[in-house]
Amino acid sequence: MTQRLVIANWKMNGDLAFLEALASSLPSLSNVQTVIAPPAVYALRLAELAQGVFEVGLQDVGSHESGAHTGEVSAAMARDLGASVVLVGHSERRSEHAEDDKIVAAKCEQIIAAGLMPVICVGETLVERESGKAIDRVRAQVTAQKHCLRNAKEVAIAYEPIWAIGTGKSATVTEAVQMHQAIRGVLKEIVPAAAPGISILYGGSVNAENAPELFAYPEIQGVLVGGASLDTQQFAAIIRAAAK
Ligand code: PGA
Repeated sequence: MTQRLVIANWKMNGDLAFLEALASSLPSLSNVQTVIAPPAVYALRLAELAQGVFEVGLQDVGSHESGAHTGEVSAAMARDLGASVVLVGHSERRSEHAEDDKIVAAKCEQIIAAGLMPVICVGETLVERESGKAIDRVRAQVTAQKHCLRNAKEVAIAYEPIWAIGTGKSATVTEAVQMHQAIRGVLKEIVPAAAPGISILYGGSVNAENAPELFAYPEIQGVLVGGASLDTQQFAAIIRAAAK
């Protein structure tokens, strides 16, 4: 957990021209691990351009090893494409594709079986936060991935309050730090041996302006960036903020 982790989640955005422009404009900083997760179809080209400056991630993979699952990409294929990291359980997957903790766990197992690093996304809804249930919700999501957290060689958690994703409304640093502390407590409880090696990232409207404030707290070991990762200058500024 010595390096800070900065992950770009393009979601269903970007094209080849943007990919080429981005690949040539990112800083290479030894204390930051930068990962770019484009739509899966672009991963191979991105891996060709990485040159050790960044790693390639996928936004999702299937929950099966292989077989008759039309439209799915397997974890082994992700590795074949040159990816080293896979997001799993992103709230958009959970809500748009009805992925529950069981499916997230099955995907996570596939990711670690392929030798890749899962980044498990968790986070509460606005209703859960306003009713004081945020910590319980996130605790349950983290606990459901105990097996994966214990068995992965490398794994990270991304805390992304759903109400802060793509809304421009980031959690306050206090809210983020409190949740990161709670997640750290859960990890120490459920996977004591693995806990010190697990980074906890914050995601939800991270941008070049709020990144330095987030990185001022040791509880925040990285960020998962959606919208701002589609702006090369802004994303480069976030990587530089992580290096400080
Ligand atoms: P956002 O997305 O930075 O656009 O809020 C973050 C995410 O969903 O990973």
